[in-house]
Amino acid sequence: MKRPNNRNWTLETLLVHGHEREREEGGSRKGVPTVQPIYTSTTYLHYNAETLDQAFDDSMSGEEGKMAFVYARQGNPNAYALETVLAQAEGGVGAIAFGSGMAAIHAALLTAGLVAGSKILAAKDLYGATTSLLRQAFVPLGVEVVTHDLYGPNADDIIRAEQPDVVYVETLSNPLVKVIDLDVISAAAREVGAVSVVDSTFTTPFLVRPIEHGFDLVVHSATKYLGGHGDSTAGVVISAKRSLQDQLRNYAIILGAMLSPFESHLIKRGLQTLALRMERHCGNALKVAQFLREHEAVAKVHYPGLPDHPQHELATTLLGEGRYGGLLSFELKGQSREAVFRFMDRLRLFLPATTLGDAWSLVSYPTMSSHRNLPEAERRAIGITEGCVRLSVGIEDVGDIIGDLERALEG
Ligand SMILES: Cc1ncc(COP(=O)(O)O)c(C=O)c1O
Repeated sequence: MKRPNNRNWTLETLLVHGHEREREEGGSRKGVPTVQPIYTSTTYLHYNAETLDQAFDDSMSGEEGKMAFVYARQGNPNAYALETVLAQAEGGVGAIAFGSGMAAIHAALLTAGLVAGSKILAAKDLYGATTSLLRQAFVPLGVEVVTHDLYGPNADDIIRAEQPDVVYVETLSNPLVKVIDLDVISAAAREVGAVSVVDSTFTTPFLVRPIEHGFDLVVHSATKYLGGHGDSTAGVVISAKRSLQDQLRNYAIILGAMLSPFESHLIKRGLQTLALRMERHCGNALKVAQFLREHEAVAKVHYPGLPDHPQHELATTLLGEGRYGGLLSFELKGQSREAVFRFMDRLRLFLPATTLGDAWSLVSYPTMSSHRNLPEAERRAIGITEGCVRLSVGIEDVGDIIGDLERALEG
């Protein structure tokens, strides 16, 4: 029995059902598992030398219905199932799953065409390790790295002036949750012939699908919302074009950064609840932002869901009403490291762990964690103060979440 074409399904349905389950023609007496088994095998046998020969070609194609497996570094059925769902969820032609978000970003930058003599224009406040990857791995190879504030109204003029080969941004910035205008950036990148790459970790395909806004490559740290349970490290790149996807697969194979079958299984399982979790993350974060804005110990709240956020309108157009993500930051009055440490130590429900997007609420101090290696002057230039605290609001009861914050802010 053939299943209906799942390209017609809504995102919510697609994420729950995942890739097409294979049912044998005519029915199987043994039955087919509803959950894909985890294939630990490193190699795959084929009927004869002729079919093995064909399988080598098919393993490179990545095309649905044609894909074959020969050697696990070149792809495994669990990673392929995850890649198929994410490619469809993002509206891309294909995807590759990697062993971490950073491995995915590395492969995406190579796929975008960074070589000696080329130039990348990146947003100034990227995730710290991405900036380090550009400075420590690509600059020594002869790549010119230029950073600018691309969240402002003149991002397109900057792209036209810089004439880069690659433009790299994040949908929402960390930790100040600035919103990137995807349409403006991709149009300007196209105009100057640059490949556009966006890290959509904070938004996930539930909130925005950057390929629909003209982007060429979308990257995610799947360690965060996509997996969602804090138990697997992974990354993914989704391509808008076949030529990019072929290049991406080639880099994935020679870099050897493929995601393992077990981690692929965990991330794909996480996707089944992504829509539900994101709805709850967004609803809870908005209430937390409203609570903090009224609190006397808080100087400022950074959350695009608040009407006084400078990009509230853009966020509403791009992400939708009430869908502003689960991440926010705020500044404690007094702006001191001691006050932040005291606040963090008083929290009971929020975990002081350096990640985001887990089911549970998390607190981090950017000056100590994500932006630790940035010189103070650069941190200040971005707008990260000594009193800045980042929250990844979880899916717990919002009353318990706010109660925890209230108690920790007392005194
Ligand atoms: C926006 C963003 N991109 C990429 C990464 C890197 O992902 P990973 O830790 O899975 O390598 C992170 C990690 O925190 C992140 O926050």
